Amino acid sequence: MQQRVLQGRAPLEFHEIVTWWKLDTKKADVAFVTSSDSHFLTQFHPMARFRIFSNDVGIDLGTANTLIWQKGKGIVLNEPSIVAFDRTSKNIIAIGHEAEKMVGKTHRDIKTIRPLKDGVIADFEIAEGMLRAFIQKTSTSIAHAKRMVICVPSGITEVEKRAVRDSAEHAGAKQVHLIAEPMAAAIGVGLDVHEPMGNMVVDIGGGTTEIAVIALSGIVVDESIRIAGDELTSSIVNWFKRQHNILIGDRTAEIIKVNVGSAWPLPEELEIEVKGRDMVAGTPKSIIVSSEEIREALNENISTIIEAVLTLLEKTPPELSADIFDRGIILSGGGALLKGLDERLRRETSLPVHVADDPLTAVVRGTGKVLEDLDAYSSVLIKSKRY
Ligand SMILES: Nc1ncnc2c1ncn2[C@@H]1O[C@H](COP(=O)(O)OP(=O)(O)O)[C@@H](O)[C@H]1O
Ligand SMILES: [Mg+2]
Repeated sequence: MQQRVLQGRAPLEFHEIVTWWKLDTKKADVAFVTSSDSHFLTQFHPMARFRIFSNDVGIDLGTANTLIWQKGKGIVLNEPSIVAFDRTSKNIIAIGHEAEKMVGKTHRDIKTIRPLKDGVIADFEIAEGMLRAFIQKTSTSIAHAKRMVICVPSGITEVEKRAVRDSAEHAGAKQVHLIAEPMAAAIGVGLDVHEPMGNMVVDIGGGTTEIAVIALSGIVVDESIRIAGDELTSSIVNWFKRQHNILIGDRTAEIIKVNVGSAWPLPEELEIEVKGRDMVAGTPKSIIVSSEEIREALNENISTIIEAVLTLLEKTPPELSADIFDRGIILSGGGALLKGLDERLRRETSLPVHVADDPLTAVVRGTGKVLEDLDAYSSVLIKSKRY
């Protein structure tokens, strides 16, 4: 019996949690088991042959990408926050990578949207459907997620916080904790957020740039502006319209931004071939543009982001300014990957600037750390207000 049950599955790790179904009550209980216990379980309980992990999850619900951290496992999902749905029934047809492929190519009945476009939930129903579908996709257990730590933009309103909580609860969470995005980013890059030292984090995502000074487990001053990756992409679309009379799609603009976009002169300037539609002739057209030209297209939005950083530095209490003077600024989020952005910020602030390792996952790694040790990090969570 034991042989048969154990076949085809790895033994449980020491730290794994086994969800134990009481068949009589149909209620799930959670028990910590050691390896030897697990042998005991597999031997005697028919449900225990499923390889079961804790379903506690940490979620970076970003405007561009959603990442999920599963307790004890790490990052289990990293997909674009995009949903394709039927316009009339509102049924979700595809999410994530699959929905991304449909962007700009759908017919009348199908629509693709990014439900969190500007850093807030633009469409509650669709956002909830997306969250639920992503969680289901990662779920390895028969039980629902018990605890969820969800990262939200720091400027989010009480109503929006409520909406995120509700969505998570509808998706099966028994306990929902919210954490501000820059706080999660700071923890993700390995800063000790509990110490009485000021740290500045600038997280440039798709919809918002979040700038915050963190000390003693809290956000001291912060600013969230709606100029980030999406606006940089739009500025490239507009540039081609104005300067070249060529209409290009968002995906093309994104490729241009990621490949040749920059905020500071490059050691070796680049060129790219751009294809679009001639607005006068109406026919497809292709031109070669330089990275210098794209830098010019991005310049206004980059300046806005840097001004916001400078404004927040002015609002920072002097003791913390002194810390930031020594430690500098940490850049996270996908926007941190823009070539030369760190250099430009360094020049304009005269401060040390560091780009986080793997900036696209900094926030979910931080959220994961909090989830793995909720007691140690309880002070960094957003205090919940009950109505
Ligand atoms: N190499 C790159 N250069 C410039 N921007 C990038 C690069 N890689 C990703 N991005 C941008 O980063 C943004 C997504 O960052 P992310 O932190 O995932 O956002 P969010 O947290 O809002 O989901 C997108 O606007 C994307 O275009
Ligand atoms: Mg983000």
